[in-house]
Amino acid sequence: MLRIAVCVSGGGTNLQAIIDSIKSGKLEDVEIISVISNNPNAYALERAKNEGIEARCISPKSFETREDFNEAFLNALNEINPDLIVLAGFLVVIPPKVTEVFKGRIINIHPSLIPSFCGTGFYGLKVHEAALKRGVKITGATVHYVDEGTDTGPIIMQKAVEVKEGDTPEILQRRVMEQAEWIILPESIGLIAKEKK
Ligand code: GRF
Repeated sequence: MLRIAVCVSGGGTNLQAIIDSIKSGKLEDVEIISVISNNPNAYALERAKNEGIEARCISPKSFETREDFNEAFLNALNEINPDLIVLAGFLVVIPPKVTEVFKGRIINIHPSLIPSFCGTGFYGLKVHEAALKRGVKITGATVHYVDEGTDTGPIIMQKAVEVKEGDTPEILQRRVMEQAEWIILPESIGLIAKEKK
């Protein structure tokens, strides 16, 4: 059994895709043991609670310094002790200490075909705005291991999505979620679960 902790900041549709894949039996030998958000209002926390999954909020805003937050975040992860940490729309910079302690055991979903439109400043809608501005005909999503950089770790899986005439960033984001993110994130977790067997 692969025990995963999912880190979220927003609506949690990628978390929901993992939950649904487990419930449908498509994703085997995976258990979500905790959901962590930096945002107390993240609907992702509701999604976790609806499934009876342990959910907690650890917000940088609740700490005097970023160092204090980083320590609390690492302590929580050590206490949860997951086999894999999944960043699903998590908008917090992962502390170097966490990347070190959990080296090779953190993955992230990014809404573009890395190395395009990634790195510092490329998150959420900004990614799709940049893709539309550049005029690419194909975009997509990437699941990759997290290393000390931003969106720089080894790529696990990618899926291409067509950009259509008249797309707005919102329309494109939704298509990338539906046709790529919600498919390759559970599939990538499944690959890792199989390797663990
Ligand atoms: C998604 O677009 C994901 O690619 C990006 O942040 C968004 C998270 O959405 N990292 P959700 O919270 O999973 O709905």
